[in-house]
Order: sequence, then C-alpha cells, then structure tokens
Amino acid sequence: MSLAPEAPVRVGVLGVGTVGAALVRLLSRHPEFIVTAALVRDPGRARDLGARPPRLTTDPDEAIDGADIVVELLGGVEWPTALMARAAERGARLVTANKAALAEAWPTWRPWIEAGRVGFEAAVMAGTPAIGPLTGALRGSRMHALEAVLNGTCAYLIGELERGVALETALAEAQRLGYAEADPSLDVDGWDAAHKVAVVARMTVAPELAWSDVVPRVRGVRGLTPDWVRTERAAGRRVRLVAYVEPDGAGGWRVGVEPRSIAAERPLAFLADGRNALVYRGDAVGEVWIAGPGAGAYVTASAVLADVLQAARGEPGPRPARAVVSPVDASPTPLGVVTPSLA
Ligand SMILES: NC(=O)c1ccc[n+]([C@@H]2O[C@H](COP(=O)([O-])OP(=O)(O)OC[C@H]3O[C@@H](n4cnc5c(N)ncnc54)[C@H](OP(=O)(O)O)[C@@H]3O)[C@@H](O)[C@H]2O)c1
Repeated sequence: MSLAPEAPVRVGVLGVGTVGAALVRLLSRHPEFIVTAALVRDPGRARDLGARPPRLTTDPDEAIDGADIVVELLGGVEWPTALMARAAERGARLVTANKAALAEAWPTWRPWIEAGRVGFEAAVMAGTPAIGPLTGALRGSRMHALEAVLNGTCAYLIGELERGVALETALAEAQRLGYAEADPSLDVDGWDAAHKVAVVARMTVAPELAWSDVVPRVRGVRGLTPDWVRTERAAGRRVRLVAYVEPDGAGGWRVGVEPRSIAAERPLAFLADGRNALVYRGDAVGEVWIAGPGAGAYVTASAVLADVLQAARGEPGPRPARAVVSPVDASPTPLGVVTPSLA
C-alpha cells in the first residue's frame, strides 16, 4: 500500500457489531479516514455508527475492493480468513481482533504477518498492549516463561466461586449481565485464552507452534468448585485460569491453559475481577507485568484504531519470532523470581 500524505485513507470494515461499531465511532474523529463500506449480516438493524456512518452492505467485496486497509471484526475462523486473503491479494493492509482465526488458521495468516502487513494488537488483551511490547522492547531478552490471565469471563466466574456461588449459577448470571456468550464454551472451556496464548507463543518463541499442539493442553474452569477455590484462598492462594508458555523440559515449549493456584502476593493473584494480565520473565530484563482491561467495545476498538493508524503511516506490523527460540535452560522455570537471572 502506498498513500499520498494528502489522500484520504480508505478503510473497509468487515463487521460492525460490538467492536466494529465502536471503531467506526472512533474513526469519525479522524477526518483523514473514510470508511468506504461496512459488511454486516443485517443492514436494517438499528445501530449507532456515530457522526459519519458508513454504507452498510452484505457483499464483502464492497467493503474490500478499493480499500487501503481492511479491518476484520466478524469473528469465526474460515470465512474471515478467506475474506482477508481476498483483501491481501488486492494489496490492502490487514487489521483484525480475531484471535480464533489467528490461532486456528495460522498457516494462512503467518506469511502476511511475516511481511508486516497485519495489525492484531486487539486480539490478545484488547486495548491493553501485549503484542507490541512482546515483539518490541522485550525482544532484548530471552524468554524464560510467560503466564497470563486472558479471559475476563473466567476471572469473574472464579470470583463468584470464591464467594461461594456454584459455577452454573455464576454462569447464568454472567450471561444475564452480558459477560458470557449464549454459548459460553469459548470462555468457560478455555478456548478463548488458548487462542490468545497460541498467538503470543508464536510471536515470542515458537513460530512453528500448531494449533493441534495446544488443543490437548486446554482446560477451562468447568470442573472448579467453590470448595476448592475457597480452600485455596484460605491457604493464601488464589485460583486463576492461567494461559502459559513455558519450557517443556526437552528443549521446546509447552503452551496451554489450565486453572492454577497462585501465591497471593503474585501479580496474577491480586488482579481485580475481569482484568487481564500477563507476566513475562526474560533473562536480561527480569519480570515484567502488563495488566489492564481485556475486553469491551471501546477498549478493543482503541487497539484496532491504533493498528489502523500504524498501517496508514506505512509502518510495518509486528513480526513473529524468526525461528524457534530455545528456552534459556531445559528445565521448566516456574515464575516467581523477580531478580534478573543473568550474572
Ligand atoms: N467484544 C470484545 O470485547 C472483543 C475483545 C477482543 C476481541 N474481540 C474480537 O473482535 C471480533 C468481533 O467481536 P464483536 O464482539 O464485535 O462481535 P459481534 O458483536 O458479534 O459483531 C460481529 C459483526 O460481524 C457481522 N457478521 C457476523 N457474521 C456475518 C455474516 N455471515 N455476514 C455478514 N456480517 C456478519 C455482524 O453483523 P450484524 O451486526 O448484522 O449481526 C456484526 O456486525 C471477534 O473476532 C472477537 O473475538 C472482541
């Protein structure tokens, strides 16, 4: 994509639901952008698209053709990936918040990402930066391990279990409040966190990681009981659904999601309900924590807009690790050491 500085930047938006509508409202504050068209399922549905509402269409080509930047905010895996392939063929820069597609259709996305053509900061912790620091400032260290809380719905559910509420009751309430999807499996069974941590692992240490390597290591919160969670709390620990990238003890990396009991003074333990956090430990830098809101319309649209701005400036998107980065030592390294480990 090459843009004359004075030319308006044409943005095609695929999906103006929760995040897409917030993005369109934020974009209306930037006169240098024109949203050429927005793809929806139902153009007749009432929606607030701000001061400069785009033309709505059910034809993806109307949103893709002629766009300098195509932003995908549909959800799903195969169809959005196929649409982005069409946009890539036509020379557009790509922006997405879709962790499911990045995780499960990685072989298709990887060459575009390696070419610096994709922005996807919003896919991991929404508006809280994760991909940027992990592929930027933190590249100066070699990673020992990484642990993260990446699903706010599970954090809420565990908070309710601590209050003695049964999981089914807490889940029904989360659905009533709009925290959980009508089909909560993506959150509750750990898949959403697994999608995100697969992306993180590939960008940091394991570009070859296949989705099928992650799937057997995904456990959600379904088996948790108030009794266990409260016993752990009474013993000075907090239960969290933890997504991890850690040495497998055989020279490679183990990537997965599972409930873990964390010492109360550790950063993942004192995280407020609903927030996301990532704890990175590298040999030179020591331990770095990143925490903030991990979902929501504007929270997510904020990072999507940042990627659109970056693409419009012609700056490349984040690149994955070039090759597998070997763990610093072969033994699993539990997080908990704050001192840098280089002598
Ligand atoms: N919500 C968050 O807090 C959050 C946070 C981080 C990342 N994300 C990611 O952002 C993406 C969008 O999430 P969202 O919450 O905004 O989803 P959403 O509210 O369900 O919006 C989806 C949009 O896609 C459109 N769409 C879906 N299927 C379509 C089809 N077959 N043809 C045409 N249009 C179709 C919908 O059209 P209609 O409006 O006509 O139904 C809607 O505009 C997902 O990948 C999600 O994982 C979301």
